[in-house]
This record gives sequence, C-alpha cells and structure tokens, in this order.
Amino acid sequence: MLKMLFSPIKIKNMELRNRIVMPAMHFLNSWEGKLLPHHFDYFVERAKGGVGLIIIGGCTIDETSGAKNMISVADDKFLPELSALAQAVQAHGAKIAAQLYHAGRYAHSWLMGGKQSVSSSPVRSKFTGETPRELSIPEIKQIQKNYALAAGRVKKAGFNAVEVIASAGYLISQFLSPLVNRRKDEYGGEYENRMRFGLEVAQEIRREVGPDFPIIFRVAGNEFMEGGLGNKEAQIFCRELEKVGVDMINVTGGWHETRIPQITMNLPRGGFVYLARGIKEAISIPVMACNRINDPLLAEKILRSGQADLIGFARSLIADPELPNKAFWGRFEDINYCIACNQGCFDPIFEQKPQTCLVNPRAGAEGKLIVRPTRLKKKIMVIGGGPAGMEAARVAALRGHKVSLYEKKEHLGGQLPLAAAPPGRQEFLTFARYLEKQLKKLPITIYLNTEATALHVDLENPDVVILATGAEPIIPNLKGVTQSHVVRAWDVLAEKVETGREVVIIGGGAVGLETALFLAHQGTIDPETLYFLMFNQAEPVENLNSLLYRGWKKITVVEMLRKLGQDIGISTRWTILQDLARLGVKTLTNARAQEITKEGVLIHREDKEELLPADTVVLATGAKPINALYEHLQNKVKEVYIIGDAKEPRRALEAVAEGFAVAREI
Ligand SMILES: Cc1cc2nc3c(=O)[nH]c(=O)nc-3n(C[C@H](O)[C@H](O)[C@H](O)COP(=O)(O)O)c2cc1C
Repeated sequence: MLKMLFSPIKIKNMELRNRIVMPAMHFLNSWEGKLLPHHFDYFVERAKGGVGLIIIGGCTIDETSGAKNMISVADDKFLPELSALAQAVQAHGAKIAAQLYHAGRYAHSWLMGGKQSVSSSPVRSKFTGETPRELSIPEIKQIQKNYALAAGRVKKAGFNAVEVIASAGYLISQFLSPLVNRRKDEYGGEYENRMRFGLEVAQEIRREVGPDFPIIFRVAGNEFMEGGLGNKEAQIFCRELEKVGVDMINVTGGWHETRIPQITMNLPRGGFVYLARGIKEAISIPVMACNRINDPLLAEKILRSGQADLIGFARSLIADPELPNKAFWGRFEDINYCIACNQGCFDPIFEQKPQTCLVNPRAGAEGKLIVRPTRLKKKIMVIGGGPAGMEAARVAALRGHKVSLYEKKEHLGGQLPLAAAPPGRQEFLTFARYLEKQLKKLPITIYLNTEATALHVDLENPDVVILATGAEPIIPNLKGVTQSHVVRAWDVLAEKVETGREVVIIGGGAVGLETALFLAHQGTIDPETLYFLMFNQAEPVENLNSLLYRGWKKITVVEMLRKLGQDIGISTRWTILQDLARLGVKTLTNARAQEITKEGVLIHREDKEELLPADTVVLATGAKPINALYEHLQNKVKEVYIIGDAKEPRRALEAVAEGFAVAREI
C-alpha cells in the first residue's frame, strides 16, 4: 500500500531498502565521546524495526564542536566501537551514516571543559548566553580539515555515508547567515563569500572520502530568524552544494533561537514539508523532508506529491522503533506515534537527564527494559484507566498475566483528553487512542463506568492490585470559593461547564495556562475558514490577523509564583506563553488570590489589593492524589502498587513510566 515509502533508493553507492530515515538526534549520553552498550541496543533495535537509514549523532569533530559527552568522531580511538556499531546496524538491513556536528556559538563552554566557543564572528548567543571567539583564517582551515578527517574516519569505520549539519544555527549556518557573520574577509560579506565555509567543508570531505562515498548536507529550509535567510537562499546554497558533489539534502526548519516553534506539537504534522519542496525545485539530487512527519501514510502522500524523495522520522522512531515494519505490513493501529511532547527526549538535554520517551518508556534503555513473558501467571486488577493504568494493563497482559481494568468514567484516557483540549495540543489524544486500541486487542477485561471499591477487589480476589486512580483538583481554602461562578479547570477543559466572557484563572501552572489557551481560542477563526478566506483573497491580511488572535473572552491568569508554567518542559513552555500573549491573555505573576467575590477575584500584588472582574473564576490550583483504597488493600491483597498521579500528581511521562515499570516486574 505504501509503495513509494517502501521503494528502494540509491544515494551514490548506498542503496536504502526504503525511504524512511532516522535523522540525527544527539543526547548527552556517551562517555567522553565513546559509544556505549546502550547506544548499540538503541540503534540496533531501530535497524531491526525496518528503517532504511540511521544517522547517528550529531557527532563532535573536534574539541570545540560540542559537548564532551556527545558521540564523537574526532579521533581514531573511537574507530573500534564505530565499526562495531556499523556492522551491528547493517546486519539488520539498515544503512548507517554519522552526522558531523560543529555547534559553533551554540556550544556551551561548561560542556567543553571550559573552552570558549568559536564562530564566524563574536556575536553573543541567546541560546547559551555566551559570546564566541572569532575564528582566524588558519583556524577556519583547520576546522575544515577536522570535518574532512572526521568524515574519513566515518568511512573507515564502515559507515555507508556521512552527513554534515549546516542547519539549526550551528557553525556552518553561522557563516551563511548575515545575522551573525560580520566578517570582512573572503568568508564574510556577500552571500557568495558566506557560503564559502560550508562549500569548502563539502569539498574537503569529498577529497578525503573519494568520489563514491555519499555526502549528505542538512540545511535550514528557512532560518525563521528576523532578517535571516529564507528558502530562496537555501535553494542557492543547495545548488552550490550539488555542484561541489554533495549527494543528498536533508531539509529541516530553523535555528534554535527562532521564535517559530520547530518541533513542538503545535507544529502541524508535515508543517515544514513545503521547505523541502522548495529545495527540491532547485536541485536534482534527492531531498529529504523532516519535522513532525510521524505518520507513514502522510509520508507516502508527501513522496507521491513529489515534494521530497525521503522522509525523516526522528522522534517517531524513538517512540516506536518498529514503525517501518508495522507500516509495511499495514499494522497502523499498532504504531505508537510520536506526540511531539518532548518530555522524554528534547527537554531532558537541558537538564542533563537521561533520554526516555513518554509513549515508549523503554527508549534509551532498550537493553535493560526488556518485556519478558511471565513465568508465574497472576491475576491482576488495575484500577484506573488513565495513562499509568492503561500502560500497566497493556504490559502486564503482554507478559501473559490475567488482567482486568476498572475505570470509573465512561471512557479510558484519564487526563489525556484534557491535555489534548487546547488547540495545538491534540496529539495527546493520539497516545490515548493507541493505548485504548492495544488494550482492546489484548485479553484484558475492561469495566467502564465502574468505580472499583473494596467490594470489587474482594469479589475478584486478585493476586495484584495496581492502583492508578489518578488525582483530583485541589480546591483552595479561599473565601468565596463555593460560589456558582467558580469552576474547576478540568471541568472547563472537559466542556462540562460554561464560562462567561470575563474569566480569571487562579493558577498559572500547566493546567491554568492550557485552560487559558483553550478559552482564548474561543471565537478566533478556525483553520478551514482562514484557508478559505486566504485562498479567495477575501479579506486583507490585517483583518485575518485580528480574526486569528482575538477571541471573544477576556482572560486573566493569576499566579502566585514568580514564573508561569514552571511544570511545563523548556521546549514547550515558551511556545505556550507566546501563544497566550498573541491571544491577548493577561498574566499576573507574584499575585496571590485573596478572595472570590460576586464581582471577581481580589488579589494581592506588589503590596496592593486589586479586584479583577470576572464572570467566571477558574480554579487551576493543583491536584491531589486519589488513593483511599490503598490503605484498605494493604493486608487483603498480596501485592498492591500505587502508580502515577495516585502516588503523586506529575506529568504523563512519569505516569506511563511507572505503569510500565510495575507491570514489567510483577
Ligand atoms: C533530542 C533531540 C536531539 C536532536 N539533535 C539533533 C542533532 O544533533 N542534529 C540534528 O541535525 N538534529 C537534531 N535534532 C532534530 C531532529 O533530527 C529532527 O529534525 C527533529 O526532531 C524534528 O523531527 P521529528 O518531528 O521527526 O522528530 C534533535 C532532536 C531531538 C528531539
């Protein structure tokens, strides 16, 4: 069915079995640049899953190119492990490439043993907060040589290709872009000069690896930076790359510093394919489209429409290593789609935490977290059908236990549908649907609309109870809180209650902000109408802008802490705050709600009291666990576990991980 996606393609002397590529994703999880056993487990599992090409890295090429604990190809001492990895991946029919990475001014000195970063010009980086050192001409030549030597090593290790990152605002971008390249020599000034560094890198590499070894360049289809380069300039660069012998172009989005979201879930699926299409129109070598293509059916459509020749599935292959094989056999229901939450992959990089994945808790620890059939079949009762309970039930049943699942609501999913309610957050439902379908395929007895009590437990007489009963909103001890115009955020998101025109939300954590987003969109123009009006040029752009950003509600969020959305991941938080600002939502920090009156909310802020008028007051003041059954079951059931929000309200990432962990061990 997916004929194009599963047709082979040849890039120079490398033939791929299909068009599915796993683009580079670096994690700070190597030891001084060396590949470790967990890398082998991780990449081999993806190779077995049917991917055509795996691009490992980014890999550092010298001591100023990136963090010490990224994978490195900067020295021959790394060759034995690199060769072993290449063989291990190739043994399963996949091809392997390594991405040569030089972050330039995006490299953090503290991750490079205190070394100052380098760049085309000494322009401070907002990403690191540091100012790089300008490279001299001899240093430029040395770095180009380092790229070439690194590429030579990649070839020597038996890899099938090499990729160079010239996107994301890294070193080659820093030469290309007028935003940071202030040089007056032959590497600065006109675009022709600014392209020189990257083109010479390509030429040096070609000299080193010979005529047949495939070279891939990854470019920004648009820098998405004010005053920066767009698709037209990227086309010019790619034409030149083709001329100097580059064999394939991998097109991604913009810089790390851009204010246009690049990989969060509000970027529509396939949202940046048009950038690849632009490049494809300019060159004749194969082009790969990337970013938020998590669905093989969509990938097939992109290929058929001629917009690209290959498709990058990055986080999607973290989420489900078997995605290619499942797509090949038409098992779409079994694909565990990436939801672009970034909770387990991108965000942990900034906190130096290990890699994992919300929808796939095994990610990054494949060798350790193996799901094995049970030797002793147990009767397991899972109470609560949110993400923690569903994952626990799924894994326990997969292992061969006899599982029943009790859910008090009429549907499964717990808080996932609430998280999915605001526009741009719908992908949370994708995961809920996946789990639900998996549960239905497994021999699990599901009781909906059934609040499990001690009596149910007595009647079932299970060997194990897993309590995944979730949490409930905290009602703050606030004067006036019981009035009829005071509602709970979860009820707003579930559309169980109406809200008036003027709304004050108490609590500016994730739930409060998501509720604000949900309400602020009400009355804004819907995407289809916007398309219709634009297509027919029915309205001037100013009118469309106002329809896009102005809903009919006036919303204020009151947060007592200094910072909003502290419980939202770093890569998503700014996008939500930016959206709220665009939608005209007022946010007040360091503001304490004192009392709710008929007229609104009395707050204390900056030593003053102020009444914020409100027709409806929404409470988003946190959640507390529901686990009353726990005590009761202690001496009655042999094994009782408590997981997810029922243990302590946290993110879905932790809930799913705990569901998985418990079910894997019982
Ligand atoms: C944790 C993480 C690390 C990444 N590191 C790199 C990198 O080193 N080099 C690179 O070119 N892209 C990197 N990316 C970007 C991905 O290759 C990919 O373009 C991005 O995740 C969007 O594609 P997706 O929606 O299919 O995940 C990284 C992405 C993630 C999530």
